[in-house]
Amino acid sequence: MKANILLVIGSFFAFVAKAQKQVPPAEAQAAALVKKMTLEEKVGQMTQVTMAVFAKGAWANEDGELDPVALKKAIVDYKVGSMLNTTAHALPVEKWRSIMTQIQDEVKNTRLRIPVIYGLDAIHGQTYTLNSTLFPQNLAIAAARNPELVRQAAKVTAMELRSSGVRWNFAPVLDIGRQPLWSRFPETYGEDVYLVKTLGVAGIKAYEEDGLKNPTAVATSLKHYLGYSASRNGKDRTPIYLPEIELREYYLPQFREAVRTGSASVMVNSSEINGIPVHANRYLLIDVLRKELGFEGVIVTDWEDIKRLHDRHNVAATPREAVVMAINAGIDMSMVPSDYSFFDLLIEAVKKGEVPMSRIDDAVKRILVMKYKTGLFENPYPEPASFGNFGKPEFQQYALEAAREAMTLLKNSDNILPLAKNKKVLVAGPAAQSISALNGCWSYTWQGNVDKWYPADSRTIYQSFVDKIGAANVITTTQPGFDSPQNYDVAALKKAAVGADVIVLCIGENAYAESPGNTRDLALPKEQEDLVVAAALTGKPVILVLAEGRPRFITNIEPSVKGILMAYWSGRKSAEAITDVLFGDYNPSGRLPFSYHKSMGEIVLYDRKPTEEVREVFNDNINTGYDPLYPFGHGLSYTTFSYSGLTLSTTTLSATGSITVTLQVKNTGSRAGKHTVELYSRDLYASITPNMRRLRAFHKISLAPGESKEVRFTLTKDDLAFVNAQLKTVTEPGEFEVIAGDLKAKFVYQ
Ligand code: BGC
Repeated sequence: MKANILLVIGSFFAFVAKAQKQVPPAEAQAAALVKKMTLEEKVGQMTQVTMAVFAKGAWANEDGELDPVALKKAIVDYKVGSMLNTTAHALPVEKWRSIMTQIQDEVKNTRLRIPVIYGLDAIHGQTYTLNSTLFPQNLAIAAARNPELVRQAAKVTAMELRSSGVRWNFAPVLDIGRQPLWSRFPETYGEDVYLVKTLGVAGIKAYEEDGLKNPTAVATSLKHYLGYSASRNGKDRTPIYLPEIELREYYLPQFREAVRTGSASVMVNSSEINGIPVHANRYLLIDVLRKELGFEGVIVTDWEDIKRLHDRHNVAATPREAVVMAINAGIDMSMVPSDYSFFDLLIEAVKKGEVPMSRIDDAVKRILVMKYKTGLFENPYPEPASFGNFGKPEFQQYALEAAREAMTLLKNSDNILPLAKNKKVLVAGPAAQSISALNGCWSYTWQGNVDKWYPADSRTIYQSFVDKIGAANVITTTQPGFDSPQNYDVAALKKAAVGADVIVLCIGENAYAESPGNTRDLALPKEQEDLVVAAALTGKPVILVLAEGRPRFITNIEPSVKGILMAYWSGRKSAEAITDVLFGDYNPSGRLPFSYHKSMGEIVLYDRKPTEEVREVFNDNINTGYDPLYPFGHGLSYTTFSYSGLTLSTTTLSATGSITVTLQVKNTGSRAGKHTVELYSRDLYASITPNMRRLRAFHKISLAPGESKEVRFTLTKDDLAFVNAQLKTVTEPGEFEVIAGDLKAKFVYQ
């Protein structure tokens, strides 16, 4: 009895002690801290500056050495709460840790010691740390149709960021790739909203799910809210005209789902929609993002975008008016990022009563919540527990797996592929000896186009051929670097082809990011087309490897080549993955995440409307409106798969019920292979012209030769919904069709 009483008393005290030690939620801590802050301290928290502001030599800085006077000015004088970016290129991981340490040390000289949160753009791996693991760009990984790969890539990226001392990632990009001219097309998961949504969510979960305090997690930033990719003329940061019905159908759902998943921040689209710059659009930021979607995190601007309300968009007559406009529209943090103008102007505006203190407090509280949640108040320094999580050997394997699954075989006439390893191969074209053309944007530099910053063990396609079949079997006419004049030497190519059994021409695009990637035309540059024509005229079989961030037209040359491998920008292991596929050491399974268009006049997307399907040409086949060179979802394998037995669990779907779609998939060839089954739906008649098809689900399986598997999908009415004329997302009663490969079945929703 006595023992029992002691036990009860003991656990009571343990409970009290625990309760006393319990840290209040981040929100309560942030609210309490805001109360103690001066206006200057608050506005400092809302200010984000770039490394050039506090690095020795500013933008000329190459080594990440900080300028102690400039650092003090930022942190102590201006009370800056957030920093970003590098000056020139990636830095060693130890350097990043030392930068973070210097920054947080300086914070100790401030009154409230509020740690700085640092953000970087690790969009396909940790861009700005040397030797980090770069994965395929979003466009490439979307081809793999495998959320598990996205999860793995995000996890590694989070670990490598965190091990660099950085806790905030400006990713994932949730922009949808419906304008192939757009220079940021490679950063998208392609043209379908379900694909963008599914892969985006897989990334966010992986980045944040461990809990932001954990050294394997980072805070995400959903970008770029909203509609950024819909540039009318295809140039970066140019006007967007989007009716709200289209905005809600294709551009908003991924953000809605991402907010539901839980993300710490949102970065705003630099452009204007229907004449209103998004940074000044209270309707989109407050009414839609905050109220309708319920987003609680930090809303950060993109680069210089408050200034640009005045000096580019011309909607604010003065720089102060621009600040007032943006903050009152709902912006919490300004990526200023190159000076302190925002700090001075916002203080002035608050003192003049142009921005209410309640808005400032709201913004600061959200920023502090992110800092509490990322554990910065407990320990702002790089955590030793994260140091081992950089460049682990298995990360290379994950990058290789992801690159392999991205590879998309577009054409394989007469089974020219896989190649036998005893053939003599001429490897030519500008991408043959370019590392940057295999990685693309945000790769050790912003543009990604400087080969010398890539890890020493990066392979070119040419080197990877030599690794695979020996130097004696590989001929090349090329030189390192995409732009080397020799790479375009048609005469040399013809001459070298004499000794070759097959020509592998590596063409496409060198790396670019943002506006430097603007292009006048998606046509393949003439000098590359000339190479292909010359190669085909030799009579030797020609295989194209396309290393590119968006579909460059190959319509004229496609008939003259036997094989085409779409390699995208697939990261650090691109070259290995390309040769694995070309030689059959890996059986390709990628499926295009966009329609590979024929020409500028043929840009119709796969989820076309009925009148885009019809081509009203006299005596012509009328159903050729969607006529890409290769459709969305296209991708060949070295084996064959057959579909059969599509059945529905019911032919009547109710509002509360679900319908299960089942089919059998069989590997009918002689090689093992992976395959993604895609399920589309079609609403036959609706109040808004229905899409001809919409992707509703996909599932990737592996099949041994002769093996069959049953694949099942479950749909509810919400999976069939669309935005109606009243801007409501609805499913209307009526007849629907589900489509998998050539199989179709109908059901009724009532
Ligand atoms: C880009 C953003 C990026 C930011 C910070 C901007 O130019 O549009 O995607 O996060 O720079 O580097």
